[in-house]
Amino acid sequence: MNDFISIKQRLFPNNYELIDGTNEVFELNIALWEFENLSELELIKRSGFFKQINGIDTAHYRLCNLQRIDEIYKNSTFRTRLFFTNGKYSTGYATHNLFPYRGKFHPQMIKGLLNIIDIKENEIVLDPMAGSGTLMVEANLLNINAIGVDLSPFCQLMSRVKTHSLSININRLDNLYKKQFEIFNILNQKKIPHNYLNEINIEDYIYYEIFLLAYLDAMGFARRSKKNIDNLYPIVIERYYRTIRNFNLARNDLELNIGTSKVLLGNALNLDIPDNSVDGVITSPPYSFAIDYIDNDQPQLEYLNYDISSLKIDMIGLRGKGINEKLKLYFNDVQESIKEMARVTKKDRRIVIIIGSNTIQTRGVELQPEIIRIAKIENLTLEMEIKKPIKGLRSSMKEESILIFKNNKE
Ligand SMILES: C[S@@+](CC[C@H](N)C(=O)[O-])C[C@H]1O[C@@H](n2cnc3c(N)ncnc32)[C@H](O)[C@@H]1O
Repeated sequence: MNDFISIKQRLFPNNYELIDGTNEVFELNIALWEFENLSELELIKRSGFFKQINGIDTAHYRLCNLQRIDEIYKNSTFRTRLFFTNGKYSTGYATHNLFPYRGKFHPQMIKGLLNIIDIKENEIVLDPMAGSGTLMVEANLLNINAIGVDLSPFCQLMSRVKTHSLSININRLDNLYKKQFEIFNILNQKKIPHNYLNEINIEDYIYYEIFLLAYLDAMGFARRSKKNIDNLYPIVIERYYRTIRNFNLARNDLELNIGTSKVLLGNALNLDIPDNSVDGVITSPPYSFAIDYIDNDQPQLEYLNYDISSLKIDMIGLRGKGINEKLKLYFNDVQESIKEMARVTKKDRRIVIIIGSNTIQTRGVELQPEIIRIAKIENLTLEMEIKKPIKGLRSSMKEESILIFKNNKE
């Protein structure tokens, strides 16, 4: 009989230590892939799942520790503090926690996927449905350049703040933070919506956007909890300030080179990006009609003076009446977007689509097989599928699929 040896010990040698909490099969799968394909030095520099290699701490592990997550959440409720300290290596690091966007990627997994699809420093990766910009942040942390496209101007704002905040001047932020109440009063009078851009020095604008996003975060929080924004704003802006400040100090300590991000307002079905210009895609389209992203962000979009109904026209998953028509239009839109991804991506590079099916809403229709079928028509070959469980009692979806395709175009 064999000795009782844990699966981790069977997969990895003793001198390769995983980050605490790496237990799920999908995490071990990505970690194994990193182990088998990256050199020791590369693992230390860019792995998302290893803690130590031959006694040397990895950059991911050091960054998460240097950011002092406990300090950022010191004024939060016990539950929130616990959530972020427990998830410090998986979801709570860099600028990922700046806005609680529903349906965002698991950041540590994205780091692993960037390794799996072999995107190197200074190359370009695209998310044509970028949401809150998780891919862009992860790419930039590895000195990879990123392009993010989304139809929602609020998503554009989130992505800009999260990526710009990775490399800002802390002294300038400190000075503005001292004026937080002055800025709050301006924001409370709706004086800095997007169309005041021209009136402000463009360099200062990226700092004002941090305060604007914190204001919109506090506004959503106030509505949900029926509390007063005047009381919530100082708590939220302090958290934003500490997150960005701590990250930038850690970044300096680690001498990290940060990639650049281009955030575009646009339609995934018609990208304003040249043919064969990106080195890979990682994206997650709406999961059929599981979430109405525009309704979800309605208060923030209205504050920013956008017309809700015109924003909905091109949203994938929101068109049509009745399940059959909705699904037909959904798959047509997904096919058009896959065609665009294949067009802009270089031959033989990878396109990753992350998708889950809410079969209660779709009356039993699974999205994954149809997306694999559509992708094949567009000359994408499925190379690997990784299943990721979705936790949480309230979720009607039990798992997501990470579909990794190769772009086989002529
Ligand atoms: C599942 S979310 C992406 C979340 C993202 N991965 C993140 O980490 O935050 C899907 C996104 O697709 C966007 N979207 C829907 N239809 C679109 C279209 N036609 N063009 C571009 N973006 C679209 C929505 O606004 C939403 O932000």
